[in-house]
Amino acid sequence: MKDKNWTRREAILAAGAMGFFPRLGLTEERKMISRPIPSSGEELPAVGLGTYSVFDVSDTAEEIAIRQKIVDLLLGEGGSVIDTSPMYNRSERVIGNVIDAGSPRKAMFIATKVWTNGRDAGIEQMNRSARLMQTDVIDLMQVHNLRDTDVHMQTIRDWQQDGRIRYNGLTHYTKSAFDRLETAMRKHKPEFIQINYSLGEPEADQRILPLARDLGIAVLINRPYQSGRLFRAVSGESVPDWATEFAASWGQFFLKFIISHPAVTCVIPATSKPHHMSDNLGAGFGPLPDDAMRQRMIAYMASL
Ligand SMILES: NC(=O)c1ccc[n+]([C@@H]2O[C@H](COP(=O)([O-])OP(=O)(O)OC[C@H]3O[C@@H](n4cnc5c(N)ncnc54)[C@H](OP(=O)(O)O)[C@@H]3O)[C@@H](O)[C@H]2O)c1
Repeated sequence: MKDKNWTRREAILAAGAMGFFPRLGLTEERKMISRPIPSSGEELPAVGLGTYSVFDVSDTAEEIAIRQKIVDLLLGEGGSVIDTSPMYNRSERVIGNVIDAGSPRKAMFIATKVWTNGRDAGIEQMNRSARLMQTDVIDLMQVHNLRDTDVHMQTIRDWQQDGRIRYNGLTHYTKSAFDRLETAMRKHKPEFIQINYSLGEPEADQRILPLARDLGIAVLINRPYQSGRLFRAVSGESVPDWATEFAASWGQFFLKFIISHPAVTCVIPATSKPHHMSDNLGAGFGPLPDDAMRQRMIAYMASL
């Protein structure tokens, strides 16, 4: 082999080619875009998974195998965030089934929610979530739709002291709640918020996303496809030529618009299909649109 001064990257790739550290070479080559959680500096991969309705299935071997495939694809590409809620009926139980079937809990960042009124009911619900997902420590506990926020934030902080929850957060899914969310962000200074933001619902970029940056709050984005509506808006159209350098599909076009916002930490598209999970994960790699391109994307959607 010719003598040379190796860069770190070249050395890793060469080691991979020679059969050493094959995973390291692969990881170096395909590292998903990630963002730090402001309160800790921990890096979160930018594409995760939502489970509303799509994980609310019976626990037959066939249904669980499909969800396990989806989760394993997520983890296999370096993703980790799985968002759920007791409001999503059987979803938490199905996540527990997937862990039972062998998907590594350690590689997951499990985000669930508390969605009830009153301290005791909240504690009972959070205990149930932990039990269903077979997890002693929940990575992120969010107050779902700002329901009884003051009460639950106190409990969540108590559990954080006890090491049973790692991060706290607040969620909502509609712009009509942005005033209330803003008030709660200023009052509680949560570590995370979760809100709707997409090419179909871009209003969060007016006040909520800049405020999250100012206050040092991580941001999960829900409804990235407006629950599928965005795909219907482009039905029959191909991804425009000017976007193909960063988006190989409509899914990646929509998700990269979101990820390229500097306040966004992670986007959580929901899917019941492994091939859609693979498509969504593609948005975690490669170039992101710059400001000018983002404006073009907005103009394009408005022209449809
Ligand atoms: N208040 C809250 O806290 C709140 C509210 C709303 C949502 N959320 C969270 O955010 C997550 C995402 O929001 P969402 O479930 O409303 O909807 P979404 O992620 O905007 O859209 C999901 C829809 O898109 C389809 N889809 C996914 N990937 C696709 C792809 N690559 N190509 C084509 N179609 C694709 C799915 O169908 P297939 O199954 O066929 O893939 C599904 O119908 C929820 O699951 C939940 O975890 C939280």
